[in-house]
Amino acid sequence: MTVTQLVAKRAGGLTGTVRAPGDKSISHRALILGALAQGLTEVEGLLEGEDVKRTAQAMAAFGAGVERLGEGHWRIEGKGGFAEPADVVDCGNAGTGVRLIMGAAAGFDMAATFTGDASLRGRPMNRVLKPLGEMGASWICRAGGRLPLTLKGGGLKHISYVLPEPSAQVKSAVLLAGLHAEGGAEVIEPEATRDHTERMLRAFGAQVDVHEEAAGRRRIVLASGQGLTGTKVRVPGDPSSAAFPLVAALITPGSVVTVQGMLLNPLRIGLLDTLGEMGADLSVANVREEGGETVADVTARYSQLVGVEVPPERAPSMIDEYPILAVAAAFADGPTAMRGIGEMRVKESDRIALMAAGLAACGVAVEEGPDSLTVVGAQRGNHGVKGGAEVTTHGDHRIAMSHLILGLSADQPVAVDEPGMIATSFPEFLGLMRGLGAEIEE
Ligand code: S3P
Repeated sequence: MTVTQLVAKRAGGLTGTVRAPGDKSISHRALILGALAQGLTEVEGLLEGEDVKRTAQAMAAFGAGVERLGEGHWRIEGKGGFAEPADVVDCGNAGTGVRLIMGAAAGFDMAATFTGDASLRGRPMNRVLKPLGEMGASWICRAGGRLPLTLKGGGLKHISYVLPEPSAQVKSAVLLAGLHAEGGAEVIEPEATRDHTERMLRAFGAQVDVHEEAAGRRRIVLASGQGLTGTKVRVPGDPSSAAFPLVAALITPGSVVTVQGMLLNPLRIGLLDTLGEMGADLSVANVREEGGETVADVTARYSQLVGVEVPPERAPSMIDEYPILAVAAAFADGPTAMRGIGEMRVKESDRIALMAAGLAACGVAVEEGPDSLTVVGAQRGNHGVKGGAEVTTHGDHRIAMSHLILGLSADQPVAVDEPGMIATSFPEFLGLMRGLGAEIEE
């Protein structure tokens, strides 16, 4: 039976220790680089969410051997390149999956047709197609650069590409195409974005040089003629998923929650910095290196938060975390202003619009701008968050999880529709939250 709604209710404090699920960004990359490489890649801690499973299927369709050895434990037998897929490649809900795979596929002399679910078919692919076209790829697609589209690759030439928007997906697509471009590729990013592709390319034996040109501005150079060799990848815990139990603890009186093994890559932890500025009681312990990334155990305790101005330049390091930050802000004292977040409008849904609508329906004062969202916290005047709404998620996993977390501390229960989509990034969400004491019912 498909669950059509989940309802979160106020309960007591949340307590316990959990492991964050594997990082989604790193999981996609491990499969794609494993398939492009020559030889065996073994991945531990792979996120077995729907998005990543689609990428695993896609890699098999492009000719790699893909085998699940156990929970989160996968083996990929790369053939040193992609073969033409026999059928349409359906990437489901996954923007990261389709954009990175298109970049990788562009390097080969073949045609591949990509599609996805209704959300993905509505998202802009031009941002990837533009640089791939400059390198020599061609395509036919629906109006506005939408899926489904057929990409024809091969014979690529060098590109030096300045990212028009801060997007790690576009950067990664260009670098992956650059692996099979004459002369390699160079990407200049005016604002630093998550660097998992650069790190993982190096782990697979490629030469990637990163030049810090000014504050945040980076020039990434992938030398030409690079072959990748299969390796072992250990996937750290996803900070974007860990954010949900951590914020739940911060806004629910009597809570103490620890998330173990959370990735602390500096380009992913803008939310922790922001919550710290809001007065969150967060502590970091057991800091260690795992598979070329820093991970640690992070503990959150219930805190009286205060509203803040989030610096716009922090957006790339917490772009997926603004929905749950908006929930934290709803329980803070005073307004929290989030600016420079226009990219949120082209995620799995228009996240600025849906957070504004969901919070307003729950009695929270919000102000929406073209690329901003201001949330006025409920603590001002000592009233709580009313809740009592049925929130439309448009099938966006992070909109659903954010409002369920809000419901745990609101005066009235909060319901979300299409909760099945949570499995795209965080299949254990319900069990994990219930294990901490959350009341979330079907
Ligand atoms: C991702 C990059 C971000 C992020 C997405 C994952 C990645 O998207 O929102 O969830 O793995 O590279 P953009 O590159 O569009 O900012």
